[in-house]
Amino acid sequence: MSPQPELHTLFTRREVEDAVNRLAAEISREYHDKNPLLLGILKGSFVFMADLIRRLDFPLEVEFLRLSSYGRGQETSGKVRVVHGLSIPIKDREVLVIEDIVDTGLTTVFLLDYLRKQKPASVKLCTLTDKPSRRQTPVNIDYLGFTVPDKFIVGYGIDCDEQFRNLPDICFLEGEG
Ligand code: IMP
Repeated sequence: MSPQPELHTLFTRREVEDAVNRLAAEISREYHDKNPLLLGILKGSFVFMADLIRRLDFPLEVEFLRLSSYGRGQETSGKVRVVHGLSIPIKDREVLVIEDIVDTGLTTVFLLDYLRKQKPASVKLCTLTDKPSRRQTPVNIDYLGFTVPDKFIVGYGIDCDEQFRNLPDICFLEGEG
């Protein structure tokens, strides 16, 4: 039997709250008069999205998109698929993508390409966490919460095999078998 993975706190709920407040201020400066479409990537972004939009005091719309990249387990296949696509047109919209984590970057590059084909006015990227040590393709991040080390991150919406999304802190798993 493989040993149980240990959970370690990387950023406390207080640090997460501070980061969300900072991001909300940055996003407000740019988007307060643009009625942006905040596009959350499911499932990992749903907690971050919910906290972020409640700190944005201007007109905006919310949409979600579901992609598949990771299966069960921790390695990306590199093959990305749209599982649940957009239900509204994004042509001429100011789109702000809300991600949970940019790891290899393969998912984000696929996503941005998919969105740009639909001719939005602009597409920018806001991610809660970034793991640059694992990057396989360059990604330009416009709004960043935290840079994280090369560990498997869970909590605050981010999962491992669908578990741990409910943790209020951002944690990492160690000793995963
Ligand atoms: P990428 O294509 O390798 O950048 O991976 C993007 C997706 O993989 C993210 O949106 C997550 O769903 C998942 N992912 C990557 N790293 C982690 C991690 O450390 N914990 C949980 N999910 C991860």
